[in-house]
This record gives sequence, structure tokens and C-alpha cells, in this order.
Amino acid sequence: MLDILLKRRSIRKYTGEAVPREKLELILNAGLLSPTSRNRKPCEFIVVENRDTLKKLAKVRDHGSVMLEQAGAAIVVIADSELSSVWPEDCSIAMSNMHNMADSLGIGSCWIQGRERYAENGQSSAEFVRDLFGVPQRYELQAILSLGIPAEHPEPHKLEELDQSKVHWEKF
Ligand SMILES: Cc1cc2nc3c(=O)[nH]c(=O)nc-3n(C[C@H](O)[C@H](O)[C@H](O)COP(=O)(O)O)c2cc1C
Repeated sequence: MLDILLKRRSIRKYTGEAVPREKLELILNAGLLSPTSRNRKPCEFIVVENRDTLKKLAKVRDHGSVMLEQAGAAIVVIADSELSSVWPEDCSIAMSNMHNMADSLGIGSCWIQGRERYAENGQSSAEFVRDLFGVPQRYELQAILSLGIPAEHPEPHKLEELDQSKVHWEKF
């Protein structure tokens, strides 16, 4: 686990090749396996492999989502907000587990924030996703995981570089 956490980086450059289907399914299983408050499981996952759709989805943010144009796939994480009021926490755990799972399989990925963000056309990113995929109104957007065969290999994190001053033992 520590090796995976140290090696995990946000990858924003991809070769443009497809993500093998069996790896995509493992990544989705990591999302589905994630714990949720009261076990309500509000998160749902829209998988995108189509190049034209990925190019459209690249405009989901005014900046910070352009890597989707070259991605091999994307997973849009939405939640049924009527099922749980803490869906952002639930979806974040699913995002994080999928991001780590992708890395462990040699697939590069990057979190693209959707909640509280805006699309290139001025819509909220949530509305943009509703329109693009026909998502019902009660579903909220959390984030999008871009995925692809890495075309960059940033250095792993190092234990020595961790800011231990963020940790407070017994009192602040
Ligand atoms: C909640 C959250 C939102 C993020 N949103 C974006 C984003 O919209 N676009 C992007 O390129 N990276 C985004 N990132 C990736 C961060 O920029 C990245 O994790 C951070 O710079 C640390 O780099 P590392 O992941 O390589 O360790 C996001 C990460 C998190 C956890």
C-alpha cells in the first residue's frame, strides 16, 4: 500500500491509446468497492471511451480538464443526492480508490474536479454533464477521472518530503 501511495501521481499526458477493458473494469470495481456512509451507495459511474465524447467532455471545466482530449477513457462520478446528504465524501473515496487502482495497473489518471466548478461555456460543470449524458436532475456531479496510457512519468513522492508539521499529536 505504501509503495502505491508513494508512486501515485496525477498523470495528465496520455498516448491516446485505449485503456484495456479488463483494466477499466478493475478500476470501476475499486469505485464500487468503496465504503459509503450508512452503506447507502449513492455513487454512479459514467464510463466514456468514445473519442468524440471525450473531446466534448474536455470542455467540462474552464481550465483543468483539457487532458481529456487525449485520454483513453474517463469515468464521470455522479451521485443520487436524494440517497445521501454526504455524497461528496462517498464519491471522493470512490475517486481516490479508482485513482490508486489505476496507478497500480500502470494506467495514468487525474482527478478533474466537477462539484462547485464551471464549464468552458459558463454552465456549471454539473449542468454540462447533465446535458451531455442525459443525467436526471437529482444526480449531482462530484468529479471526473481521466484515464490513459501514461505519456509522462513524474517522480514518485518521497517519505522524507512529507510535511510532518501537519500532524498534531494529542493536541494542536
Ligand atoms: C479534490 C481534487 C481536485 C482536483 N482537481 C483537479 C483538476 O480539476 N484538474 C487537474 O488537472 N488536477 C486536479 N487535481 C489533481 C491535483 O492537482 C494533484 O493531485 C496535486 O497537484 C498533487 O499532485 P500529485 O497528484 O501528482 O501528487 C485535483 C486533486 C484533488 C484531490
